Amino acid sequence: MNIILMGLPGAGKGTQAALIVEKLHIPHISTGDMFRAAVKEETPLGVEAKSYMDQGALVPDRVTIGIVRDRLGKDDCESGFLLDGFPRTVPQAEALDELLSDLGKEIDYVIYIEVSQQELISRLTGRRICSNCGTTFHLQFAPPKVAGVCDRCGGSLYQREDDQEETVAKRLQINQEQTEHLIRYYTAKEKLVRVDGEQPIEQVTETIFSKIRSRTR
Ligand code: AP5
Ligand code: MG
Repeated sequence: MNIILMGLPGAGKGTQAALIVEKLHIPHISTGDMFRAAVKEETPLGVEAKSYMDQGALVPDRVTIGIVRDRLGKDDCESGFLLDGFPRTVPQAEALDELLSDLGKEIDYVIYIEVSQQELISRLTGRRICSNCGTTFHLQFAPPKVAGVCDRCGGSLYQREDDQEETVAKRLQINQEQTEHLIRYYTAKEKLVRVDGEQPIEQVTETIFSKIRSRTR
């Protein structure tokens, strides 16, 4: 199954992606995670991406499309994949369609996780991530058992640099407009599946699977 997970910053794409790929056994491809890994390794891609990410801006399409093209060409994508945070602009969506058609593939579902602006702000500012295994927590909504420590591996938790309040506001503003264009793009292609993201985490996952099942029938 080839899936796109769409949603504004903080909608729960990463959280849901981790649960979905565990069930479907497909790779989780997050452009944000790929950029953060490149920033950590201080590669030329990382240096370029960081200058945009720190501002809450989008990394240019040519760069983003390039890394997704390379990733989708890998063998583990043969039996499906889940894209998290890509495409984020219509040119990215068009490039993806072209790339998939070259590979003889197509997108099955575009899942759009809907969450209100106020909720997004509290989700982003309260998010904490494990520096070792990447598991995501939230100070209020998904707190670790011991403050500052990962339940899974005992690693220490950190706050993403772009989760500071000023950057969060910019990210939301920039992504809002692009997302509206993308919703129109995928609605016209009859691929869009809207999911209420303001339910508890497990219930959002259930809704995603039940909507996919009802479409498959
Ligand atoms: P990226 O890493 O993709 O960030 P984002 O889109 O801003 O989304 P987030 O990762 O912040 O949120 P999420 O939806 O994954 O939410 P999460 O599950 O963590 O991109 C970062 C940057 O990279 C971009 O700003 C841009 O610069 C660049 N970039 C990436 N892709 C790009 C592209 N295609 N083009 C150009 N530039 C690109 O959840 C958030 C919090 O809420 C967590 O604490 C979680 O525990 C909690 N939570 C989740 N679900 C629930 C729930 N149901 N109820 C209560 N709490 C919940
Ligand atoms: Mg994410």
